[in-house]
Amino acid sequence: MKIMKSTAIAPANIAFIKYWGKKDEELRLPLNSSISMNLSNCLTTTTVEFSDKYTEDQFILLSNNDRKKTLERNIAISENETKRVIKYLNRIRNIAKIKEFAKVVSENNFPSSSGMASSASGFAALTLAAAVAAGLTLSEKELTILARVGSGSACRSIPDGFVEWKYGKENSSSYAYSLYPSSYWDLRDIILLVNSDNKKVSSTTGMENVWTSNLMEKRLKEIPNRLDKIKLALKEKNFPLLGLTCEQDCLSMHKVANTQKPAIFYWTNKTEEIIKKVKSWRSAGLEVYFTVDAGPNVHLLCQGKDERKVIEKLNESYSGLKYIINKPTSGVKLTDKHLF
Ligand code: PMV
Repeated sequence: MKIMKSTAIAPANIAFIKYWGKKDEELRLPLNSSISMNLSNCLTTTTVEFSDKYTEDQFILLSNNDRKKTLERNIAISENETKRVIKYLNRIRNIAKIKEFAKVVSENNFPSSSGMASSASGFAALTLAAAVAAGLTLSEKELTILARVGSGSACRSIPDGFVEWKYGKENSSSYAYSLYPSSYWDLRDIILLVNSDNKKVSSTTGMENVWTSNLMEKRLKEIPNRLDKIKLALKEKNFPLLGLTCEQDCLSMHKVANTQKPAIFYWTNKTEEIIKKVKSWRSAGLEVYFTVDAGPNVHLLCQGKDERKVIEKLNESYSGLKYIINKPTSGVKLTDKHLF
């Protein structure tokens, strides 16, 4: 029997310019281009096997505490998440012209319950593992297009390092590519895990109502200029320009979310408190900036040379808070260490 099994590892990414709003829900074509950095310590590993021994598709998310990888101790996955994975497998089967059902096992190396978006790393790893297992040979660009349909931001986790996702007018022109490799600039993204009692609104749901905010039009008009600024900041390694532009775009995205109907508030009091603290550290001369995705966690951006100082400040002010230190890293890759 032909072996149709493959495993891939993909990083999550942090958006400097955020994707918030789609012009095509089904194809996940975004309203604007976005730019991000891959995160070295937020990784998803996924094994996909297509086989005629399976009578239905199965999706299992392993707990990252589960070193023995006993499949009984997996994390509960919502029906919607499983449906989304199965819909995506159908897409791959159609392209590859195969009929076999699949078993999919995934593991995140970061806490899955921490409210961190794992869909970018999840769908990027699933894309490469499933495409290879199905016998497809795709270019990097084609993989980004495929990943985008699974989860928009996943397309940015395919290429290396610092990545732009071109918004594109149709399926084939909305793809991601590497602006610079991960070795280009020694930056850090320190993610502070802020606990949230709020009911989490997924980014998919959150993006459905962007046009009910009267700030959306303004946001879209401002984005081309911010994209130019981020590209210039990367080219010149101008960290204050990068940091300030990230903050502006983060605030713009959250203002849209806050003024949508129904309004979405991803921040908690702790999120706001940390942001104020970051600004005070900066006033005192430390080059550190913030950004926040669709959740309460604060991402601290700094240069490698300032990592120690930022961690010292963090330990002084928030000794109990958990954090994950990330460097820029490469995109999705294959591994022969299968999860089952
Ligand atoms: O691709 P999704 O559905 O995980 O959406 C990501 C949305 C943000 O994280 C808020 C912004 C971004 O560009 O990553």
